[in-house]
Formats: sequence, C-alpha cells, structure tokens
Amino acid sequence: MTQSNSKYTLIHARQSSVLLKTEIGAPPSIVYWGDKLDCDINDVQAAADIAQLCERQGAQGGPDKEIAPSLSCEPGTGYLGPSGLDVHRGNTGWAPLLRVEKTVRDQDSVAVHCRDSENGLSVCYTFDVKSDANVIKIHTSFTNSANTPLSINWACVLSLCLPPDLDEVISFSGRWANEFQTLRAPLTQIGFIVENRRGRTSHDRFPGLILCARNADEHQGACLGVHFGWSGNHRMKIEPLSNGRNILQIGEHFMPGEITLAAGATYETPSLYTAFSSNGFSPMSSSFHDYYRTTMSDARLRDRPRPVHYNSWEAIYFDHSLAQLKKLADEAANIGAERFVLDDGWFMGRRNDRAGLGDWQVDRTIYPNGLQPLIDYVRARKMEFGLWVEPEMVNEDSDFFRKHPDWVLQTPHTEQVPFRNQFVINLTNRDAFENIFSQIDRLLSEYLDIGYIKWDMNRDINHPGDGTGHPVAHAQTRAVYALLERLRGRHPNVEFESCSSGGGRADFGILAHTDRIWTSDSNDALDRQKIQRDASYFFPLEVLGAHVGPRNCHITHRTLSMAFRAATAFFGHMGVEANLLTMSQPEKNELKRAIALHKQYRSHLHTGEFVRIDGPSGTNVFGVVCPKRNLALYSYAQLETLKNTLPGVLKFPGLDPQKRYRIKVIWPTEITTPPPHRLETSGLLEKGYEATGDALMKVGLQLPVLMPQSCIIFEVKAV
Ligand code: GLA
Repeated sequence: MTQSNSKYTLIHARQSSVLLKTEIGAPPSIVYWGDKLDCDINDVQAAADIAQLCERQGAQGGPDKEIAPSLSCEPGTGYLGPSGLDVHRGNTGWAPLLRVEKTVRDQDSVAVHCRDSENGLSVCYTFDVKSDANVIKIHTSFTNSANTPLSINWACVLSLCLPPDLDEVISFSGRWANEFQTLRAPLTQIGFIVENRRGRTSHDRFPGLILCARNADEHQGACLGVHFGWSGNHRMKIEPLSNGRNILQIGEHFMPGEITLAAGATYETPSLYTAFSSNGFSPMSSSFHDYYRTTMSDARLRDRPRPVHYNSWEAIYFDHSLAQLKKLADEAANIGAERFVLDDGWFMGRRNDRAGLGDWQVDRTIYPNGLQPLIDYVRARKMEFGLWVEPEMVNEDSDFFRKHPDWVLQTPHTEQVPFRNQFVINLTNRDAFENIFSQIDRLLSEYLDIGYIKWDMNRDINHPGDGTGHPVAHAQTRAVYALLERLRGRHPNVEFESCSSGGGRADFGILAHTDRIWTSDSNDALDRQKIQRDASYFFPLEVLGAHVGPRNCHITHRTLSMAFRAATAFFGHMGVEANLLTMSQPEKNELKRAIALHKQYRSHLHTGEFVRIDGPSGTNVFGVVCPKRNLALYSYAQLETLKNTLPGVLKFPGLDPQKRYRIKVIWPTEITTPPPHRLETSGLLEKGYEATGDALMKVGLQLPVLMPQSCIIFEVKAV
C-alpha cells in the first residue's frame, strides 16, 4: 500500500485508463477516461501533459475559469451542473466542499480520501481494478465526522463527466416476461433520467447503460458500459450541459429521510461496475463476463459444469402429487436432466398463490412423508434436487401472518397495494429476519440433499416503510443480502438462483450472493432470443437460466418447433420446463439430442469469449470462441420472414486468421425446408468443409434459406 501526494493519479485497466486529478487540498476530478494510455502510472510528466491537453477555458457569460465537475459535483464547489451529493443537517450543512486529503494505491485499487472538516464529512472514492482485467469497480463511502446527524438525500457513486466522443446512450427497459429491451438514442440537450422505486432491481429499469460513440457497433467504436450492482431502488441520470459536457450520475434512490447518519456513521454506496472498450460492444461485454468469472462467481462453481435443469413449474403449476412428480423425474432423467427443481406449491396450504407464503414447512396433505421420498427418487435417478422458495414474502392466509401481522413492510394509514396476494416481510425487523432464517435453515438442515434453492421475489415494494413511518428500502435490500449470506455460510454446498418473476432481480449485487439468474418468465424462444441477447451485454451465458418450454408457449401462446426452442436454450444455463408426460416422443427424442449436445459443448460455451454479431435485420447472430481459438460455436437465428429471397453471408469473428478450420452445422440435425437444401447439398450437415480463419472472417459463409423462427448452430473447429 503506498500513499501518494501526486497531483494526478493514473489507473490502468487492461484496455482502458482513467486519469484523476488528486491534488491535495483541491476537489478531486476526472481528467480522462478512455482508451488505454501508453504511459507508466508513476510517470508524473505524462500525467501533467495529458491534464494540460484537457484544460478548458472559461466561457463568456460564465465564471472566469470553468469549474471542473468534481467526483461528487457537490454544491460547495460552486458547480451549477447536477449535484451528485445532496446532504443537510436541518437547514445547514448542505454545501459541502470535499478536498483531497490523500490518495492510497494498493495493488488492485486506488482510494481517494477527501474531507470537508468544516461540514464534518469524510468521503472515500475507491476504484478497484486488476491490471489484467478491464472492469473498474467503483464504490464510495460517506462518513459523518461531526456530532450532529447528517441526512443524505442523494449520494451517487461518482459523477462521471462523459468522454466527449460518447454521444449516444443505450438503455435497458422491459417488462415482466419481456426483460432487457434495448433502446439507443443520441445524447442531446434533453437529459435522461431513470428512477427505480420498485424495491427490487425491476423488469423495466435495469441499472445499466452503455454510452457509446455514434459509429459504435459490436466490433468497432468507443463505448463505456456502466452497471450499478444493486437490487433495490436506484437513480441513473445524464444531464447535458451548455458547455458541451454530459454528466452521468448513478446511485441509490432514497425515500425522503431514509438515510440519516449518526455521528461517526458511514453510508457505503453499492458498487458501480464500468468497462470501456475502443472496439465496440462485444469486447465490453467480454470484460463484464471475465469479471464475473474471475472475481465474482463462487470459486466452487468455476470448474464445474452447470447441470441441466428440469423445473416443474410449467408442467404442473400448483397441482402437486408424488406419483406425478415421480413420473416427471423418470422422464427428466431419461432426457438427460441433471437437476430436478421442485417449484412453487410444495409447502403449507400452497394450493394456489393466495396462501402459504411464510410457512416453510412441507404440506403433509400432499407429501405425507415429507419431501424425502421424492428427493430419494430424484437422487436415485442421478439428479440433484432443487427447491423453490420465496422467503421475503407472506400471504395473509398463512400462520406466519396470523401470528405476526405487523412484520410486513407498510406505511401508516395507507392500504397495502394488492400484488399477487402477498406482502413483503420487513427483514429489517430482527425477529422477522431470525424467523425466516430459522425456517429456511431448518429446511436445508432437515433435507441435506437439497443442493439448489430457487429464491424468488414476486412483488414490488410499494410501501417500503417499517410500520413506524420510517422508510427502509435500502436496509431491506441489505437485509436480503445478509439473509442469503448467512444461509450460504451455513449451507455452503447449496447453490442459489435469483428469480424475481423472471428477471426482476438480475444485477451484480445479487449475483455476489447467488449463482444463477432466472432470465425471464417467458419461455417463448422467439422472445428469449432477444431477451438473452440483450442480457448478455452484462451477464455471461452460464448465469442466464434458459429453459426449453412447452410447444405452445404458456405466456405468449406462440407455437414453436423443438429445434428452435432447444437451440435458443442451448447457449445459456440450459434447462427444461415443460410437461414431459404430454410431450410427443419425437419431441422428447429431439430434446434429448439437444441436451446431449449441450453437455458436449457447455464447458466451452461457459468459458469462451462471447461475440454478438450485427446480423441482417430480423436475425440474431452470436458466437462463443474458445480462448485458444481452436473451437468456436456460432448461432444464427432467423426470427422473421426475410425481405429477400436469399439471406446474406455470415462472417465469423474472433477466429485465428492463420488457422484452418472445419465448419459444419451441429444443430438442427434435420432440415425441414423443401429440398434441394444447401445445408444438405453442401455437406455442412455432415462432415462440413474446410476454410482458413482469414476467409471465414473476411468472406464469410453464404447462409442457407431458412424458415422464420429457426436457428442453426455452427461448429468451427481448427484442423
Ligand atoms: C415466479 C417465477 C416462476 C415460478 C413462479 C412460481 O413467477 O418467476 O418461475 O417460480 O413464480 O410461483
């Protein structure tokens, strides 16, 4: 650990650099953020030269010298752009001015310590980065060093003055069963703001953005991905200023009065994960994926293939019977599932979604001998056993609620908003927390063969109050993390999935405590092509739960072939969620083939470099290239009817130009388009043929005619 007194501090990631102004006694600011600079972190002259290049003048009608936006753009600097720090002590203390006290550099982090002694505030901005990684993780702490309480209305992680060439933004909206919808727009003089008050990450306001240059696409142009790793309320805003700057601020969204720091207390922001790329979006995503794999994923899972799931939900819903489940387990094992997850409906009184939440004991009217007979049956078929729970919630019709009607989040004198017949348990209440912890702990201790928990959370928090009138949205999210951590500590062999009516709680905050995300409640493969593609901007394929659903999708009522459904689930954490007892034998055979193929390739799919490809409109194209470039798989999905009679060519990025490869189609195994079909006549369906990496990348392959809603997977293997 070294303390530096330098005026500037340079941070290098693998492909990007950040230069901070850290002059002691002055407000800290960002000088440069972008492509990697070719200079040593200790090269004081180089840093000063760069700062000089970035120096700006005052403008007419404004201060004599432009006020550089500090890391918090706090009011005490006199800066009139958006404030990144709104604090007060009654009607004083609202204009802090943070000056650098010291900068401490560690092997993998830089901490800029600042202080306003007049206003009793100490702030530390920490930038964590390993030089061989490309994600810079930033988190900030705010400490009240005075004797009176300090209220924080807003404290973003940092105010990021955007690099000037990033003049467009991609945002991620969506809805239940159709998450991760991207929208790209220029940054104009009209600002951008997203506020999430849902009390969970949300389906419609994913806390991530991509700032990019106008020319950026998957393989070229500058872009900066930012993701706030937090599963509660947040605010993201970009404010364009008349001086040409765009200020990006991301932090928690607080209810009024929610955060008040007692003397000596600290508020720590959740982390902001950032990845810059000069070569488009796919390398940016790879940086996030690498980060997850090397830094965030549970070490126990890193070398272990993700087991193929069978999930009971869309097969039986609440209609549980041991005999039926045993038959499903037989079928699941037969098609190659490796983990059998018993979804909602197994616990006290849970015959529908109006009762039972809060009472985490097995319903003996359905399972007279508990879950053990089913678990044994599943285990005897060489599958792991997983179980669904929703521990943060309670139904009015439950023993838990009858005993403790006060242990729910609520605001005084207001009716609860009806939402899936359930209330949110106030986990900031110690007794409620202990009760839920003990119930789940008891379950996992009684059934030691439960290897997996699907942890659900199915409503927004409309009334995030503790019942006394105090808002606790922030504390509730922290309590959920603490609950998960405590359970994981007690049951280290259990894996956890984060589900929230599908992808309503998908973020790096929850992923630090869980192992998989249920990407969406929609198993409609056509919608999933889009949802999974856009989730992949931040999340690696192996955490994205992707299930083969029923032929007639339950949510959209669309009918899709098994070939297409299986291809769509193939690249993610694959699973099946359909009634195997009513599925036709030819479909089951096809599904079994797809699962076997997935198992053959999953170690590559879940460790390789992911590349999205800008295909023609109406298609979804992407690939995974293994680190040594000996093997790559590419998925080409034709979603709509093409405008032209023949499709274009597919170029295969990421290969080694010097290597010779054999390319062939590994899925589907049969083509239903009328003959003569190019896939058959060309031999691509059988042995395939050879070409150099150079030709495959530059010339590409003339694509065959496909029906809409179909997908082919190519294997490209070095010979
Ligand atoms: C949520 C989940 C589903 C399923 C149901 C059970 O909607 O997203 O996958 O588990 O709850 O009630």
